[in-house]
Amino acid sequence: MALRARITGWGKYLPQRILTNRELEKWVDTSDAWIRSRTGIRERRIAADDETASTMAVEASRQALEVAHLNPKELDLIIAATVTPDKVFPACASLIQHQLGASKAAAFDLNAACSGFVYALATANQFIGAGGFEKVLVVGTDVYSRILDWRDRSTCVLFGDGAGAVIMEASTQGGSLSFVLGSDGSGADLLYVPGLCDSTLVANDHHYLTMNGPEVFKFAIHTMVGATKQVVETAHLTLDDIDLFIYHQANSRIIQAAAKSLSLPPHKVFINVDRYGNTSAASIPIALCEAIEEGRIQKGDHLALVGFGGGLSWGAMVVEWDSDPLEKNV
Ligand code: COA
Repeated sequence: MALRARITGWGKYLPQRILTNRELEKWVDTSDAWIRSRTGIRERRIAADDETASTMAVEASRQALEVAHLNPKELDLIIAATVTPDKVFPACASLIQHQLGASKAAAFDLNAACSGFVYALATANQFIGAGGFEKVLVVGTDVYSRILDWRDRSTCVLFGDGAGAVIMEASTQGGSLSFVLGSDGSGADLLYVPGLCDSTLVANDHHYLTMNGPEVFKFAIHTMVGATKQVVETAHLTLDDIDLFIYHQANSRIIQAAAKSLSLPPHKVFINVDRYGNTSAASIPIALCEAIEEGRIQKGDHLALVGFGGGLSWGAMVVEWDSDPLEKNV
């Protein structure tokens, strides 16, 4: 029987420092009312000076390992989805591996911006399905506070820092039922951060995130609707069979517009962007953890995880949840 990848552990980390909309009002020409009405965001977390993508990831990963009852030395592979790694190289995943003491694990980073976590889940699924890798740590971690222009009100109000992790293990039942990945590089200029080797960066000393908000907004709704339909159909299910939709938390208006277009009942759509803003690759695993904590995921449920972001890129996965959240694993 073909091996599937099943989620057996989960964890999240949010920095302590809360940055409210009211505080942002003092820095840029914005208002709490504007941010709330256009994005649904009330506050976000900001990493301390000594925190990085790898240190946040390690906190989330330790929780995930504990839930899965795994010793880090049992891990075969670590995939870190991030676009804000501590260093260009070595990979953030290698730093995580060392801090965890996961001495047996291979480690690499995956860059698919805010779609990164779903891309990494799909990658782990393929490694496990092909055999030879049984226990994989997938972590989404981003520290956007370091790549935002805090003078640019059109971007700085939208993002926050954090990390989320899951353990995926080989199984013959449950787990990932289907996934969809996509990319449209023609939209690369709509959302980007210049790289170290970008000559415009050298010329303009501009290393901040740049975004065409309205265009990304349209892309996001269109893509989330399409990817949701496709991934559910690929799993031979209907939208009604899905118990919880966990979308990338970028903007509650985007999530609500997609949900409306798909006629999803609000109680089946998870939202926590109000407290964390857009945490990029961390947003879906953080939302997954909170959905579990809130008792919104039960054994046997079908979940749809759907992300979109820079690339432009998108990724979706349907998961049959067969861990018992109350027992913190079976
Ligand atoms: N506070 C107050 N006004 C702001 C503002 C802020 N923080 N940011 C932008 N504005 C202004 C704009 O300058 C514009 O003013 P103008 O009409 O005088 O030119 C006005 O608000 C409306 O801007 P617009 O961009 O049309 O608003 P919007 O309804 O599209 O909302 C976003 C803007 C950014 C919230 C929305 O486009 C969005 O969420 N896009 C997707 C972003 C995203 O998710 N990115 C990450 C993807 S992973």
